[in-house]
Amino acid sequence: MPLGGSECYTAQDMHGTYWIYTMGCQMNERDSETLAGLLQAEGYRPVGNPAEADVLLLNTCAVREKPEHKVFSLLGEMLRHKRERPGTVIGVCGCVAQVQAEAIRVAAPQVDLIIGPRNYADLPALLAAVRSASPASSAAACVALDSDRSIPEGLPAARTNTVTAYVNITYGCNNYCAYCIVPYARGPLQSRRPEDILREVQGLLDAGYRQITLLGQNVNAYGQDLDGAVDFPELLYRVDALCRGQRVRFTTSHPKDFSPRLIEAMRDLPSVCEWLHLPLQAGDDEVLARMGRGYTASRYREIVAEAREQIPGLALSTDVMVGFPGETEAQFENTYRLMEEIRFDQAFTFKFSPRSGTAAASMGDAVPEPVKQARLQRLAEMVARVARERNREQLGQEFEVLVEEERPKSPGQVRGRTRGNRLFILPGSPELIGRMVRARAEEAYLWGFKGRAVLPVG
Ligand code: SAH
Ligand code: SF4
Ligand code: F3S
Repeated sequence: MPLGGSECYTAQDMHGTYWIYTMGCQMNERDSETLAGLLQAEGYRPVGNPAEADVLLLNTCAVREKPEHKVFSLLGEMLRHKRERPGTVIGVCGCVAQVQAEAIRVAAPQVDLIIGPRNYADLPALLAAVRSASPASSAAACVALDSDRSIPEGLPAARTNTVTAYVNITYGCNNYCAYCIVPYARGPLQSRRPEDILREVQGLLDAGYRQITLLGQNVNAYGQDLDGAVDFPELLYRVDALCRGQRVRFTTSHPKDFSPRLIEAMRDLPSVCEWLHLPLQAGDDEVLARMGRGYTASRYREIVAEAREQIPGLALSTDVMVGFPGETEAQFENTYRLMEEIRFDQAFTFKFSPRSGTAAASMGDAVPEPVKQARLQRLAEMVARVARERNREQLGQEFEVLVEEERPKSPGQVRGRTRGNRLFILPGSPELIGRMVRARAEEAYLWGFKGRAVLPVG
């Protein structure tokens, strides 16, 4: 059943209804599927309107200040629903729950549940405890925040999409990049056992999924905490053996742990898409060193050159940050020039945002906001220009498009993605959803292409 679907149930239903709001990255999207799966296993049903839900969950992101602020404004709205329907349960999950539990309790003492990313298996028990308590005794929130707990196998998932599926391969992160809150929010690296991953992938293929995206904060670190027999390239070989005729993607790759064997795997494995998301963060060696990233600009350049040489048609995307503490104009120029030289197909650009508890938050030497803003704007303009140019260069080419959905508000058009992860819009009916179509690009945009099918391919 779709998460947040339009089915309406009332508070009189035997078990009740829920509504989940998800912020942040793919890990959170995948986690919300687990939260929904756990609730559905308890007999709860999704509703599309928070005013009608018995349980409201906010799955939060703490990566920058802006999403964190949004959590507190959304909480205000949720508390209004609770005032109108006093039995409503409000839960805060995700990364802000883990790192800002105290602030949540102070700002919104009416919140019933605060659950960190490693504790979702506790949701049914905590929810039952909250719902069975008398209003007077439920003043204090039920809190579960064991950030180093290991996440169990076999939690149910109510997936939102019928064509593409996320599969976690690792949880957490051990890297502690100086700016990043993720290791604090999600705990240490925990790799899932290969057999558990392969079982999940096989189950998804049996259910008709056509694209598997392997997820981890740093997929290249996969297996470092296991017995060492299976590293990430080896895992890809095993996943590909199950996924022939379908698609496999993975995100996020870290340049520090990137190996020649991964490039070989991407080159040789038919299901593995020619798409690499490889965050650069900065193109200046001194900034990279202070970020604790563990590579230099020239090492990054080398990986890209090797990957482009070995993997024809490779699409490359990245994340980059401006205004890291102490970043000089010359250092920013190094980032700008490297990005212009590499010509990414897509790049996400961010202004550094200090996160309390991280090393960078106490480095001092902050770059003034107007300077950050100007750098961001200059970089984002160049990135958009290059992405448009790269798409334009591919006009007239044929792509394999996996059709994922009907285009919202445009009946008669469907959209999907190329193997390089570019959006592709084409005329077509909903029967094409879940099919791979060969299509020619006729118009190029910043986000991808419009075109039409040449012939269906499977
Ligand atoms: N695991 C991934 C990224 C996770 S966070 C990796 O290692 O690259 C997603 C992106 O948010 C990062 O790549 C980074 O560019 C950005 N980001 C993380 N912390 C940030 C901060 N404090 N301020 C601004 N951007 C940040
Ligand atoms: Fe954050 Fe670095 Fe880990 Fe990515 S690798 S999640 S940027 S600490
Ligand atoms: Fe945000 Fe947590 Fe993902 S901080 S980016 S939701 S890992």
